[in-house]
Amino acid sequence: MEILKAENLKKYYRDGAVVKAVDGVSLSIEEGEFAALVGPSGSGKTTLLNLLGGIDHPTEGKVYIEGKEITSLKEKQLARFRLEKLGFVFQAYNLIPVLTALENAELILLFQGVEKNKRRERVMEIFRELGIEHLADRTPPKLSGGEQQRMAIARAIVHHPLLVLADEPTANLDSENAISIVELMKRLCKEKNISFLIATHDSRVYQRAERIIRLTDGKIVEDKRNT
Ligand SMILES: Nc1ncnc2c1ncn2[C@@H]1O[C@H](COP(=O)(O)OP(=O)(O)O)[C@@H](O)[C@H]1O
Ligand SMILES: [Mg+2]
Repeated sequence: MEILKAENLKKYYRDGAVVKAVDGVSLSIEEGEFAALVGPSGSGKTTLLNLLGGIDHPTEGKVYIEGKEITSLKEKQLARFRLEKLGFVFQAYNLIPVLTALENAELILLFQGVEKNKRRERVMEIFRELGIEHLADRTPPKLSGGEQQRMAIARAIVHHPLLVLADEPTANLDSENAISIVELMKRLCKEKNISFLIATHDSRVYQRAERIIRLTDGKIVEDKRNT
């Protein structure tokens, strides 16, 4: 089943000359798919992820999630939709430093109005699956990079989204942690049937993807099964 579809997406910036950051991208993501978005720095990966996730508005084109067009939603509706359907993972983890790991991971459930005990139960269940339950009460500055990224992944999936968009999630990690993070995302993808689209130029990541979408100058130049 198709969960996300983009039609002729464009994002142009007027910075003196026109920068065509994303230049006519059409693609679809299937349920439970583990895909990598690759391309050199400046090829438009971050811009495309932000358009697909409704964080940024396209100059032209449309994004559909579960058949519903999100590009025309009002900001408030879009925020609610994003909160429910999507998860995000970033290069710099983006955890809130003054909150504990558990508090960071339960924020989305809090916004969704889930009651406290239920929130904690659900977060701790995910933490146990990720082997990080002993770190629940620590704040991010007291966690290693690999531990912070595990926390960020827990936060991204705790509400069981359809799709996780990850932007260079291993860029700040050593080799051992990078491999273990991508293996973890792949396991969650398969066990929980959550699709992943991971922007990366890290071969340790895209070698493990089932599909590789290659971007150059804002355009898809290749889209293949990775067997
Ligand atoms: N806010 C912006 N204003 C102007 N140009 C931008 C902006 N954001 C990104 N760009 C440009 O768009 C292109 C694609 O950037 P980006 O999506 O960050 O690529 P990547 O993530 O692949 O490195 C680059 O040329 C970048 O300089
Ligand atoms: Mg980027």
